[in-house]
Amino acid sequence: MTIKSPRNFFKPLAIGAPEPFREPPVRVERMIHFVPPHLDKVRAKIGDMIPTVDVILGNLEDAIPADAKEAARKGFIEMASAHDYGSTGLWTRVNCLNSPWILDDLTEIVAAVGQKLDVIMLPKVEGPWDIHYLDQLLAQLEARHQIKKQIMIHAILETAEGVKNVESIALASPRMHGMSLGPADLAASRAMKTTRVGGGHPEYKVLADAEGSAPRAVYQQDLWHYTVAKMVDACQSAGIKSFYGPFGDISDLAACEVQFRNAFLLGCAGAWSLHPNQVAIAKRVFSPDPKEVAFAKKILEAMPDGSGVAMIDGKMQDDATWKQAKVMVDCARQVAA
Ligand code: GLV
Ligand code: MG
Repeated sequence: MTIKSPRNFFKPLAIGAPEPFREPPVRVERMIHFVPPHLDKVRAKIGDMIPTVDVILGNLEDAIPADAKEAARKGFIEMASAHDYGSTGLWTRVNCLNSPWILDDLTEIVAAVGQKLDVIMLPKVEGPWDIHYLDQLLAQLEARHQIKKQIMIHAILETAEGVKNVESIALASPRMHGMSLGPADLAASRAMKTTRVGGGHPEYKVLADAEGSAPRAVYQQDLWHYTVAKMVDACQSAGIKSFYGPFGDISDLAACEVQFRNAFLLGCAGAWSLHPNQVAIAKRVFSPDPKEVAFAKKILEAMPDGSGVAMIDGKMQDDATWKQAKVMVDCARQVAA
């Protein structure tokens, strides 16, 4: 199968077109912090929140009641207009493509605050066709409202069909910013027998081999390993970012930290945060460990041109470990910038 390059797939509209295409994003986005914009008390705290998070996302989709959808949309426009977000990303999650709300979400938000909006998160993406539709609609709206900065698209991977098509979704448009795992909807779509938002399950486990009459150890397995790894491969090969999504058990900080760390180790750039406690976890987990970074720097210094072989602390290093070290050091530099 031939897949067209994401860098030349769509041409921008000729009239009033925004800048052609942005380079892949280098912003630090360790957490995408979700807020419900229809609540006055939440909007009142946005100013204080801005310097404490990497991205603020006004949620319009699931968790916003049907009778509050319009208030959420208006609330998002209000919170976007009211503040200077500086280097903090401003995103929104719109309703899904077959909902009665998305057309108004897009037209009203881009008209009012398109110039400030960095990324639109699109839920329940099933294939590249969903991204093509949004890409074209955004091109029309940007041209109409003279938006100079191209609005990027972030897909949620949360249906079995979407996972099947993950590679073509990642390549569907030069607007693709990245992708997040949506474990709650994905669990339903796959007919998994769970009632959770992300994380593990006490019954998804393996038992250690029997040894005499001693009780057998139980190890819980990661329900999301396969999908996260598949998403990371699709995103990295398309030059975009991957994210773990929500961790719904806000009281279980330890489990949240382990789940986020697994995602970080597998290649994810960040995760969603639903509570200030999770912001702190994401900041810690998605910033590389200083000890690992110090070791990675030793590798870079030992092989200045990135080739050959070196022994450091009894471990063999070569061109491949040099590349791993560079990933780690680059990530640390971005976080420190
Ligand atoms: C997020 O939207 C999820 O379904 O997990
Ligand atoms: Mg969902």
